[in-house]
Amino acid sequence: MDMAIRLTVNGKAVEATVDPRTLLVQLIRETLQLTGTHVGCDTAQCGACTVHMNGRAVKACSMLALQAQGAEITTIEGLATDGALHPMQAAFRECHGLQCGFCTPGMVMSAVQLLKDKPQASEQEIREGLEGNICRCTGYHNIVKAVQLCQSGKVSATA
Ligand code: FES
Ligand code: FES
Repeated sequence: MDMAIRLTVNGKAVEATVDPRTLLVQLIRETLQLTGTHVGCDTAQCGACTVHMNGRAVKACSMLALQAQGAEITTIEGLATDGALHPMQAAFRECHGLQCGFCTPGMVMSAVQLLKDKPQASEQEIREGLEGNICRCTGYHNIVKAVQLCQSGKVSATA
């Protein structure tokens, strides 16, 4: 039997009726049409589906939508403010921290969480902190550089 769910997504109140088996990532992508959140593995390994739930990074493929009942969700679409990129997004752009871009939304969401938890993270800690996010293109070096640039505060939000 379908069930009602209410939550806040990118600052907006959302109500939907979902099959209890619906994954959070399905609700985000298919019901809410927020397709910036990607599905790579569907088995909690690649991190492409990473979003923030109540201020913590979670893999949306490994949760049921109903587990987000009443929660505040932020997806990659909610990171920019007033059309200006989040500094982490701007840093990824500046450092060429992406190639195909498939991993990028999840990588950015995880990186934002990482610096929130450890603002002074070392290069090693950044690499370890992003272990749950797989990138098949970049070799990770420019991703780490992007996180370090954001960390330095030398990149600012840009349109
Ligand atoms: Fe969720 Fe890969 S799609 S971790
Ligand atoms: Fe292609 Fe990371 S940029 S998977």
